[in-house]
Amino acid sequence: MKTMKAVVARGLNDYAVEEVTLDPPKADEVLVKIKATGICHSDLSVINGTIPVAFPMVLGHEGAGVVEEVGENVTNVKPGDHVTLSFVPNCGDCYHCLRSEPYLCLKSTPDGKMMDGTVRVHKDGEDINVMQFLGNMAEYSVVPSMCLVKIDDDIDMKAAALVGCGVTTGVGAALKTAEVKPGSTVAVFGAGGVGLSIIQGARIAGAAKIIAVDLSDDKLAIAKEVGATDVINASGDAVKEVMALTGGIGVDYGFEAIGIPAVVDQAQKATRRGGTMTVVGVGKLDQKLELNALMFPLTSKTFKGSMYGGAEFKVDFPKYLELYKQGKLDLDRMVTQTYSIDEAVQAFDDLVAGKNARGVIVYD
Ligand code: CU
Ligand code: ZN
Repeated sequence: MKTMKAVVARGLNDYAVEEVTLDPPKADEVLVKIKATGICHSDLSVINGTIPVAFPMVLGHEGAGVVEEVGENVTNVKPGDHVTLSFVPNCGDCYHCLRSEPYLCLKSTPDGKMMDGTVRVHKDGEDINVMQFLGNMAEYSVVPSMCLVKIDDDIDMKAAALVGCGVTTGVGAALKTAEVKPGSTVAVFGAGGVGLSIIQGARIAGAAKIIAVDLSDDKLAIAKEVGATDVINASGDAVKEVMALTGGIGVDYGFEAIGIPAVVDQAQKATRRGGTMTVVGVGKLDQKLELNALMFPLTSKTFKGSMYGGAEFKVDFPKYLELYKQGKLDLDRMVTQTYSIDEAVQAFDDLVAGKNARGVIVYD
């Protein structure tokens, strides 16, 4: 049993760094010493209730680290291996895994338990759940081996962490869900970690015009550095400005990467007739997206939802990290601030204030 620091959410908007204990890995589980944890908007969505969960819960679902111990039957990694964590399992046996759709794996559950329905984190006899099998906003994490991908030892752990959620979600939305074509036009509403990754995916796909839309000029500046050809501050009429940039037609591919229905509506209005609109941002359970009953068929648009960038993560993590190594995927520019785990509350305050493209907690 280990004692460690972890960021624990105990109820809505109630979270703090706590000392907890961690059991050793059971069969098919792995103990990982966490090296970097990305602070993702979905962590905030757990804190503020957008994503309903069972509290108490260790936050964190975007991370990378080094394998310290493996449980029985584990063959895909060994102690000393560097790994990126996937918050979606890949059981290999369910309906979706058998059809190359592991991003929809049916073993994915929101109850915060391990595969066997028990937990490894405790505090004074109390069971503590973990976010999406990982709960890696902590010094250590015990995770199902099916959630791990071995990566090369020379890869920066912050970059490796980002690939665990935001980068795979965004790059995959462009390359795999929307299948952006060379020479096409793209508009991305929201230029945080996921939006910047969509922009990079569109650039890698060879899009000719990539328009970034956001309220933050700082984020729009980063968007330009990583591949946006045009930027629009959303304080004005963003749809009108996208139309002006596309000869009144609209873009071939619209993306929404925030999770606000009104912004999805803007993004779909900025998408041309016959174009493809992809929703990546996650809104609340009781919110609805609206389609106009007359215009939806008449404009022949395609609407897509994109979960985890359509990732086959065991193939895609190494692929995206290779693009990073080659300088084609700029992950360093996306990390705008690092924190210690003791600074986790500050890190969330900065996220809420819109200060970071991506903030990352690093551990020694
Ligand atoms: Cu995330
Ligand atoms: Zn499965």
